[in-house]
Amino acid sequence: MLDIYKLGEDVLSEPTTKVTEFDSALKLLVEAMFETMDEAEGVGLAAPQIGVSKRIFVVDTHQSEDERLCFINPEILETSPDLVHYEEGCLSVPGVYHDVVRPSHVTVHAQDLNGKAFTVKAGGLLARVIQHENDHLYGKLFIDRLDKDEHDMMVRVYERRAKSQNKGKKRSRR
Ligand code: NI
Repeated sequence: MLDIYKLGEDVLSEPTTKVTEFDSALKLLVEAMFETMDEAEGVGLAAPQIGVSKRIFVVDTHQSEDERLCFINPEILETSPDLVHYEEGCLSVPGVYHDVVRPSHVTVHAQDLNGKAFTVKAGGLLARVIQHENDHLYGKLFIDRLDKDEHDMMVRVYERRAKSQNKGKKRSRR
């Protein structure tokens, strides 16, 4: 399992570059991303979250109708006009959850591990996760979608939680 970068680390807000080599190193990286996502019990993981500034994310919503998907160089082609609320969290901001408003459906164009182009039309949880992960490729976290007060409150919640967990670690070492 790879380390997951957390809120405050630069790589999470840096822009990503296109994948140009569809080689065995890419396959290994994506495999490690799936494993890391599974281990952390996430439904999606983007490359910046493991410190890699590349346009890659993986998704597994654990819903029978959806497959395990890897999106390389994704582009969201279309979003539906209707918006929906959904409570989101992020492996890079553990312990923090908040409602985020996003389009209910998306059409995404991407490449697979072999560089082959594909298009997915998604609704429901899959559409939600795709949009959340795609934001990571633009250096955006779900809390950046909130208004400033809500955003700042979520940062405080995260920092308080991180602080109390560190204290817990120190205590248990004694
Ligand atoms: Ni996330």
